[in-house]
Amino acid sequence: MNLKRILFDTDPGIDDALAILLALASPELEVDGISVINGNCSVDNGAANALAVLELAKANHIPVARGFDLPLVQPSLLAPETHGNTGLGYAKLPAPKTKPVAQHSVDFLAEKILSAPGEITLVCIGPLTNVAVAIRKEPRIVQAVKDVIIMGGAIRHQGNTTPVAEFNVYVDPHAAHMVYHSGMPITLVPLDVTYQCILTPDDVRRLQKIKSPIPQFVADSTRFYMEFHDEFQKIEGCVINDPLALALTFAPELCDYEEHYVDVDISGGVSMGNTYADFYKMTKNAANMKVALGVRARDFVELFLERMEQLSKKISE
Ligand code: RIB
Ligand code: CA
Repeated sequence: MNLKRILFDTDPGIDDALAILLALASPELEVDGISVINGNCSVDNGAANALAVLELAKANHIPVARGFDLPLVQPSLLAPETHGNTGLGYAKLPAPKTKPVAQHSVDFLAEKILSAPGEITLVCIGPLTNVAVAIRKEPRIVQAVKDVIIMGGAIRHQGNTTPVAEFNVYVDPHAAHMVYHSGMPITLVPLDVTYQCILTPDDVRRLQKIKSPIPQFVADSTRFYMEFHDEFQKIEGCVINDPLALALTFAPELCDYEEHYVDVDISGGVSMGNTYADFYKMTKNAANMKVALGVRARDFVELFLERMEQLSKKISE
């Protein structure tokens, strides 16, 4: 089987960490690298978290690069109330023994994509600052990348950071605007589908039947995340946005898609960071991305659980 080669650009973050573990648990995928951006936590915490999660899964051969610690224009916005001060909730992983590569994420992403034209799928599950600057610095990646999966935006769904804006886009709406209009082959995975994908306390208890560090990490990290969802959004469980975006690299059939012209508001008013689709083609602009608008949510959560169980057994052998 030809492995699908992926690169992450991520702000790990609890659901980002689960997406990285899902990638490592998926035999269809080869993870070429992890680029880190600020967002859920600082880029330093994010890089340390990425390295620690890779070591947890015995995958520390995978390179990690540090990116920007600030958005292009907006002030810094982190999410300690959602992901905790470290970015991984209540989870306590050993300090990583490995270090990030010396290369900045912008150069790391460009070099990896240009080294394998038409082969790399870029999985963007954080604010898009690194990707936007990489496009400006090395425009050839637009044609060289195989495809781009972006967890971001809220199309018909309400925002999770303002009433109309989703976190990854709101942190750096200017970067999102640059990426949305870059010409890259984008599949957008908005809150419309990710908010249907809820990991419940029963799901976590199922994983904990396996005595292994991974279920313990899932339990400790998501316990913080579930408390946030319960307190602020009355959700019993937690929304696993990023693992759904990753899963579409090998199981696209989990979602239903429509092609639309999509834009993001950077006008600076109350709807700053709002990602919207031109459903009635009023702008006369050609579609610039595929948008996932339907999802088989429980099928996805079951797939996630099965793969976490497989990975947990594998690393405990
Ligand atoms: O809005 C959800 C997204 O913002 C997820 O990627 C989460 O990890 C945060 O980065
Ligand atoms: Ca994320």
